[in-house]
Amino acid sequence: MNVMTTEPAREKNKISAKPGPYTIETVLSVKHYTDRLFHFRITRPAAFRFRSGEFIMIGLPKEDGKPLLRAYSVASPFWDEALDFYSIKVPDGPLTSRLQHIQEGDEILLGKKPVGTLVLDALKPGKRLYMVSTGTGIAPFASLIRDPETYEKFDEVILTHTCRELAELKYGEELVAATKEDELIGEMAREKLVHFTSVTRDDGPVKGRVTDMINSGELFDHLGVPAFDPAVDRVMICGSEGLLKDTRQICLERGFVEGSNAAPADFVVEKAFVATD
Ligand code: A2P
Repeated sequence: MNVMTTEPAREKNKISAKPGPYTIETVLSVKHYTDRLFHFRITRPAAFRFRSGEFIMIGLPKEDGKPLLRAYSVASPFWDEALDFYSIKVPDGPLTSRLQHIQEGDEILLGKKPVGTLVLDALKPGKRLYMVSTGTGIAPFASLIRDPETYEKFDEVILTHTCRELAELKYGEELVAATKEDELIGEMAREKLVHFTSVTRDDGPVKGRVTDMINSGELFDHLGVPAFDPAVDRVMICGSEGLLKDTRQICLERGFVEGSNAAPADFVVEKAFVATD
């Protein structure tokens, strides 16, 4: 007789939090990409509205029951029924050291007020939209490249993603491939979306920081387009502090004006949150 031995089911982590500026949501799936990066999907409250590219507070209760929340860009489009996030794992990070262990069925805290500047409303009309990202900074663009408005407003959408290692590009590659096959926006994405990747600490097809490739012109040669021009190009930047500082400087030197929700202009900047947590 075969005796089936099954592992005892792991208790799901349920939250008994006091009412606050957040709701309690359930983890639907988790996917680990590398030992530093993972993606997870959670339920979306019916009343939760956001603009593609915005961020929101998410987190877990601490030992004392008080919430520990951090800002995360929503990585899914506004029309999706659930919410996606893409996170770094920091071994000693107060939140991510615990968040990286979440599993399907666990509960998580979700803030109620999405905000942010990486939104289409903060840019003036243009021809070509650049989304410049490093590491988990690709998250808000995972939302924006699946928003039909992005393709309605721009003739070309160029997503650049630079990571240390090739394995860290996988999430973006899967995302772009799925976007091009998507029923709703696949056709627009196939026509207008270009994905440019590079690595800095691995041997890859393209090696180097995106900032160096903008300055040398290599990026534009690869893409077969003219160099940055504030008359027609718009730029969104999200990633490490260094990337933001250096790309912002490049944009300013080339005559781009920084935009905001209140005053739309030529480029917008937002740091990739939890980069150090
Ligand atoms: P590098 O390996 O040369 O530091 P991180 O994983 O530390 O967030 O970095 C993600 C990517 O961002 C890496 O490829 C890193 O390159 C790159 N990067 C870091 N600082 C800058 C900067 N100032 N300008 C452009 N890219 C940067």
